[in-house]
Amino acid sequence: MTDETLDPGLVERATSFVQRKMEGRRPTVAVVLGSGLGFLHEKVESAVRIHYRDIPGFPVPTVYGHQGELVIGRLAGRDVLVQSGRFHLYEGHSAERCALPVRVYSGLGISTLLLTNAAGGVRRTFMPGTLMLIADHVNLTFRNPLTGPVPAGEERFPDMSEPYDRGLRRLARDVAARRQVALDEGVYAGMVGPCYETPAEVRMLERLGVDAVGMSTIVETITARARGMRCLGISTITNAASGISATPLSHAEVMEAAEAVKDKLAGIVEGVIERL
Ligand code: HPA
Repeated sequence: MTDETLDPGLVERATSFVQRKMEGRRPTVAVVLGSGLGFLHEKVESAVRIHYRDIPGFPVPTVYGHQGELVIGRLAGRDVLVQSGRFHLYEGHSAERCALPVRVYSGLGISTLLLTNAAGGVRRTFMPGTLMLIADHVNLTFRNPLTGPVPAGEERFPDMSEPYDRGLRRLARDVAARRQVALDEGVYAGMVGPCYETPAEVRMLERLGVDAVGMSTIVETITARARGMRCLGISTITNAASGISATPLSHAEVMEAAEAVKDKLAGIVEGVIERL
């Protein structure tokens, strides 16, 4: 499935389907929830919920910790769209399929994308529960959602000099400081997974200047930038990366650590939305 080409009309079909269901709501910001962070969708008020199984081209998530619905309503005083459940390359989806939601959001008029994820800490000082603002990323998936024909509204060679918006990062730092939540900043590397890294791979990542490693986000950011959307990314460090931690890694540990820090992360996300 990795080099499938989606039907060229799919983005428009999915966009108009979601548009019809929104019943007049006009979100300008979308929040993508990572592993174990699905709780935020429960805070959305006056929401319409659209199950992925009903949206053209949206696959149903296969990973525990990821629901499968778009929740559109009010959060922190604004109309928002919350994506609860992600598509990942490791599930066998093509980069183009993983990019579909972001293309739909852009079609809906959404111009700001807040991405959250769970990640392993490569920087030695990162403990489970550290929150890291993504300053930049390294695409080690070696997949790209922009290959193939250029869809309307995208460029052939998009600039990637500021994948994560400077102004949004400043805002997130300010929100975190006011709420007295520690927020680090660093470089995220995206790998395909699904196995966690080997210690040698983590040593490689360290030498590449990487601070955190995960299995998502990259494809969404690339797509958003190609559409001129601005991105903010926040990683929850759920574990020390392989070889740094003495114990084997497990998805259960990742979920547990994400759960422990979810309120702090929600505070930052809501604070940012409030001040957009
Ligand atoms: N590696 C990759 N992805 C992850 C990790 C990790 O250590 N922890 C949570 N997601």
